This record gives sequence, C-alpha cells and structure tokens, in this order.
Amino acid sequence: STPHILAFAGSLRAGSFNKKLVRCAASAAEAAGTKVTIINLDDYALPVFDEDLEKEGTPENATKLKALMREADGFLIASPEYNSSVSAALKNAIDWASRPAEGEPMLAAFAGKAAVLMAASPGALGGLRGLVHLKAILGNIQVTVLPQQFALSKAFEAFDDEGKLKDEKTAARVADLGSSLAAFLAKHVG
Ligand code: FNR
Repeated sequence: STPHILAFAGSLRAGSFNKKLVRCAASAAEAAGTKVTIINLDDYALPVFDEDLEKEGTPENATKLKALMREADGFLIASPEYNSSVSAALKNAIDWASRPAEGEPMLAAFAGKAAVLMAASPGALGGLRGLVHLKAILGNIQVTVLPQQFALSKAFEAFDDEGKLKDEKTAARVADLGSSLAAFLAKHVG
C-alpha cells in the first residue's frame, strides 16, 4: 500500500518558521508519491500531560492525535529549539501519544516507524541542538530516525511571502529530506 507520512511542527504559533519548513519538505514527499497529512499541533490544544488527568479520562484530542500517528508509517517533524532542546508542545504531544489505551499495544503510535527531523530558528545554529535531543527521544520510543536532517538558520529571512524557501540550494536540501523519507518508506512499508 502507499506509505503515509504525518507531518507537523513542534511550534504552536501561527507564523511559525517550523510550520513553513515542514510544509516545504512535505511537498517533496508528496511529489515522490507518498500520502502526506499535515497537521497543526495547536489544533489539538493538549493539556500538559498529567497522570491524574489521564486517570480521569484521556482528552479526546489526545486520542485523536494518537490515532493519526498510529495510521502513519513515518513522521516529518520540524522542531523549534527552546533553550537548546525541544519545545514543550512537541514533547507534550509525544508524551500523550506514547500512552497506550487499555488493551492497546505499547508505543503503537511510534514503534517501527521512521522519522526525518528538521529545525528552523532565527539563530545561527538553526535549532540543531534541539534535534540531538529529539533524535534520542524518538529513538527510545522505537522510531528509526533517518540520518538526513537539516537545521535552517536565520529563518526570518529564508522564506518568501508564499512560504517557499528563497535560496535554491536550501530548498533542494529540504526537498531532499521529504523525498528521502518517502523513498525509505517505499522500501520498508509493505
Ligand atoms: C527560543 N528561541 C531559541 N532559538 C534557538 O536557536 N535556540 C534556543 O535555545 C532558543 N531558545 C528559545 C526559548 C524560548 C522559550 C523561546 C520562546 C524561543 C528562539 C526560537 O528559535 C524562535 O522563537 C523561533 O521562531 C521558534 O520557532 P517557530 O515558532 O518560528 O517555529
């Protein structure tokens, strides 16, 4: 069957550079023949994970997000860097989605999946330090993180009004991330 990618950014803000970046990579994955679903984490308005809250009943939006992740074979993730690590919003989404419902297998949203990571930041390092952490987090929940990654520095001047990357070489690198995940999934998803 056609592989399916879920693409999202770890930022909630409307003008997010990471939302723009993940869309650029997602277009390339789609062009490579993969089904791609782009979501905004802010649409889910997840509360901060709390085991007491979970005991009262998992929020409907957390269940919805996990269901989308379960359906996906791979993830394209653009992660902002907050104080040299992943955003709380992204970690929170991962934490909610990592919890099994009663009778559900462990890590059903993550185990055996593949991911390609990218980051965008106004700073000079482009959020690269956060990706080191994200790679470890995903690896520990049995996601294969592909070695292809990209951190976009000086993100405030990188995109045109339509959200496309202005620099041709950068655009090609980001497109390559999307098509690399598409190619990996085509090979490994039966
Ligand atoms: C930041 N920012 C930031 N940037 C960076 O390159 N390294 C960092 O460690 C941090 N730390 C940090 C902490 C907090 C709390 C905030 C709010 C911001 C700046 C950050 O990269 C910038 O706000 C980006 O625009 C965030 O990504 P989006 O929302 O544009 O996708």
